[in-house]
Amino acid sequence: MKRTILAHIAELATPKGREARQGARMNELSVTRDAAVVIEGENILAVGDTDTILSSYRDGAEIRDLSGHAVVPGFVDSHTHFLFGGYRPEEFMMRLAGESYLAIHKAGGGIECTVEKTRNETEEQMDREGRARLRDALQMGVTSMEGKSGYGLDRDTELRMLRVMRKLDKEQPVEITPTYLGGHSVPREYRDRPDGYIDWMIREMLPLIREERLAAFVDIFCEDGVFTAAQSEKLLSAASAMGFGTKIHADEIMSTGGAELAVGLHSVSADHLLMISDQGIRDLAGSGTVATLLPCTAFCLAKPYAPARKLIDAGCAVALASDYNPGSCFTGSIPLLFALAVIHMHMSLPEALCALTLNGAAAIGRADRIGSIEPGKQADLVVLNHPEYEFLVYNTAVNQVHEVYKKGVSVCHR
Ligand code: NIG
Ligand code: FE
Repeated sequence: MKRTILAHIAELATPKGREARQGARMNELSVTRDAAVVIEGENILAVGDTDTILSSYRDGAEIRDLSGHAVVPGFVDSHTHFLFGGYRPEEFMMRLAGESYLAIHKAGGGIECTVEKTRNETEEQMDREGRARLRDALQMGVTSMEGKSGYGLDRDTELRMLRVMRKLDKEQPVEITPTYLGGHSVPREYRDRPDGYIDWMIREMLPLIREERLAAFVDIFCEDGVFTAAQSEKLLSAASAMGFGTKIHADEIMSTGGAELAVGLHSVSADHLLMISDQGIRDLAGSGTVATLLPCTAFCLAKPYAPARKLIDAGCAVALASDYNPGSCFTGSIPLLFALAVIHMHMSLPEALCALTLNGAAAIGRADRIGSIEPGKQADLVVLNHPEYEFLVYNTAVNQVHEVYKKGVSVCHR
């Protein structure tokens, strides 16, 4: 098997572990100067200081000198809607003029507008656009990404979205974890019958998706004017009984008990949480559910950020993700995400790094294989332009990626 040693890494910064880190443990980052990583095939074989590593592992290895560069784990973007048809610039302008996201949604704009356009997209178009967006994400150091359906809502378009994700996962470097988000919005066919739509998803869609193994997770937008907590619970408990993991868009615009529900259902993550209640924070802290925060969405909607400090200080495991989508957050910018988390949400940089790597991995059920630079994990690494990982935020909102390794292979060089 091919062996490569990345040697003389100026600073190797990584959280450690095979599960989400909670509370104060998020701040415990391992930083090694003049470090080396031994890659064998797709995996990491050893990590340590360069002298020790070279004396034990250099035979037959290709050695690459990374002096002058810091290295961090590949970023895990655990919440995205990267497949969609068309764009909604007019809606963005309406919001700038004072209209609210929810008012536009309730008036039949918003998600419904993208549903219309996505239903009209061919598989080829979807594939081409998705591929280009993944290339952009890789350039920013994203090596694994969760992707949601939810812009078809009907049978064929939802299946098309999930199949395109499966194809893209095989054909380009960014690993994709697919999530069925049929519960993104009530489709026009069911306008006054949301309960009928929930039943239809349980009866028709979940068995199909399970049979073709098209999604690992099922998600729902639990929000005032979208799906109630009771409807969310019904869909997600059915999904969970069928063996899917579950996720919830929770407490984004109104506090509707989404976080509490996620904990009760043992969901892998509760996402957004801008309006989470104190009870929700307490519940999450004592649970295995990751609190996934999406600061770029709060930024784009000009809403107050989720209470990251309160969540971490209460002992929760926090992940950060982009929420890349054509409506509430048309940016997948990882540099912006770091800046908002650290400067405006008052997370420390070690916490933010943990949130975007190990805890992101936990939020898609993959912390055993990705999210940190340790022996036995997949060799997914980001080489930065500068010798100190602090540049991730100090050089504010500017891409710091020099090179990306996915499964041991250099897949992007800038
Ligand atoms: O996570 N909140 C619901 N879904 C997306 C927005 C989708 C859209 O507006 O198209 C979100 O913000
Ligand atoms: Fe989302």
